[in-house]
Amino acid sequence: MERKKIRWGLLGAGVIIDRWIKGAMQEEDMEIAAVASRTAQSAQQMADRYGIPGVMSYGEMLARDDIDVVYVPVPHTAHKDLTIRALEAGKNVLVEKPAAVTAADFDEMAACAEKNGKFLMEAVWTRFFPLAGMLEELLKEGAIGDLRLMQSSFAFRSTPEAAPRLFDPARAGGALLDVGVYDLHFADMVFKRQPEEISGMASMDTDSLHLKVDEQNCFTARYDNGALAVMTSAVRTTMPDTAWLFGTEGSIEIPVFWKPSRMHLKTDTRDEWIEAPVSQKVAGIEDEGYQYEIRHVNECIRAGLTQSPVMTWEKTKNVLTLCDRLRSQWGLKYPFE
Ligand SMILES: NC(=O)c1ccc[n+]([C@@H]2O[C@H](COP(=O)([O-])OP(=O)(O)OC[C@H]3O[C@@H](n4cnc5c(N)ncnc54)[C@H](OP(=O)(O)O)[C@@H]3O)[C@@H](O)[C@H]2O)c1
Repeated sequence: MERKKIRWGLLGAGVIIDRWIKGAMQEEDMEIAAVASRTAQSAQQMADRYGIPGVMSYGEMLARDDIDVVYVPVPHTAHKDLTIRALEAGKNVLVEKPAAVTAADFDEMAACAEKNGKFLMEAVWTRFFPLAGMLEELLKEGAIGDLRLMQSSFAFRSTPEAAPRLFDPARAGGALLDVGVYDLHFADMVFKRQPEEISGMASMDTDSLHLKVDEQNCFTARYDNGALAVMTSAVRTTMPDTAWLFGTEGSIEIPVFWKPSRMHLKTDTRDEWIEAPVSQKVAGIEDEGYQYEIRHVNECIRAGLTQSPVMTWEKTKNVLTLCDRLRSQWGLKYPFE
C-alpha cells in the first residue's frame, strides 16, 4: 500500500511563496493541502495559480487535523506568534528566516516546540544545497589549509515603494534581519563555532528617506582562533552576492552564496570550478533550490524529530544573538520605535 504523503499547509501567501512552491513541486513525498492568509484574496490567488485545494483563514488551518506541517512565510514580527499558535495546535513548523526578531523570542518558540513534541526549524535553505555539503567536505579535508578569513555580502536594490516590509520598523525590516542573517549563517557553517566578538556599523536616517531601519551595514566577527568574517548586507544597493573563503593554502569563491551551485577552488596545485549536481523531477520549472530544505523537513518529520540535526535550534539562537548585539550597537531597539 502506498504510504500517505506529508501534508503541508501554507500560513501566508506573499512574495516568497511563489518561489518556494516551485521547489515543493520537485518533491515526491509531500502535497500542499491548503493555503491561508489574513485576506482570502491573496490565498485564493495562490490556490488558483498552483491548484491548491484548500483556501482558509489561519485559525481554520490550525484547527484542521489532517495537516502535518505548516510553513510560516510572514513578516518577521509575526513569526513568533504564528509559530507558537501552530505548535500549540499540534503542527510541525518550518518558519522563515529570521526565525524570530530576538534570541529571547526564539527561546520561547523552541520551548513551545519541546513542550508539544513538535518539529521546529528556521528555513535557512542555504544549508541544504548539495554544494554546501561539498564545501564543508573540502574545508574538512583541508583543501585550503586553515580557514582564516571569510568575506561575504548579500545586498540588493529596492525601495520603500517596491517593498514596504523591508523598510518598515514595525515589521522589523532592515538589511541585517532580511539578508545579513545569511552572511551570519554562512559564517557559522564554515567556521562551525560562535564568534567571540562582533561589531559593525549601519546606515540609518542618513538621507532624505529618514529610514528607521538599517539600509546597509558592515560587520566583522572574530573567532577564538583569530579567524575573521567580514560581512555586508544592504537593501538599497546591489552588490555581488559572493562569499570568499581565504585559507593558509588557498581560497574558495562561492557566487550567490545563499543559494550556491558552484565554487572556484584555487590553491598552488588546483585551479578549478566545482559544480553541484542538479536533480529535477519536473523539468522546465525555474526552481531555485528550496526543495533541498523541504526534503530535509519531510525526512525529519518522518523520523519524528523535534529539531533538525543540521539547522539546529542552537544555530538559530546563535545567529539571533549576534543580530541582537549588532542592533544594540546601532541603537536599533526592539520593539522598534
Ligand atoms: N527564504 C527566502 O529566500 C526568502 C525570500 C524572501 C522572503 N523571505 C522571508 O519570508 C517572509 C515573508 O516575506 P515576504 O516578502 O513573502 O512577505 P510579504 O509578501 O510582505 O507577506 C507575506 C504574507 O504574510 C501575510 N501577513 C502580512 N502581515 C501579517 C501579519 N502581521 N500577521 C500574519 N500574516 C501577515 C500576508 O498576507 P495577507 O496580508 O493576505 O494576510 C502575506 O500572505 C519573511 O520572513 C522574509 O524574510 C525568505
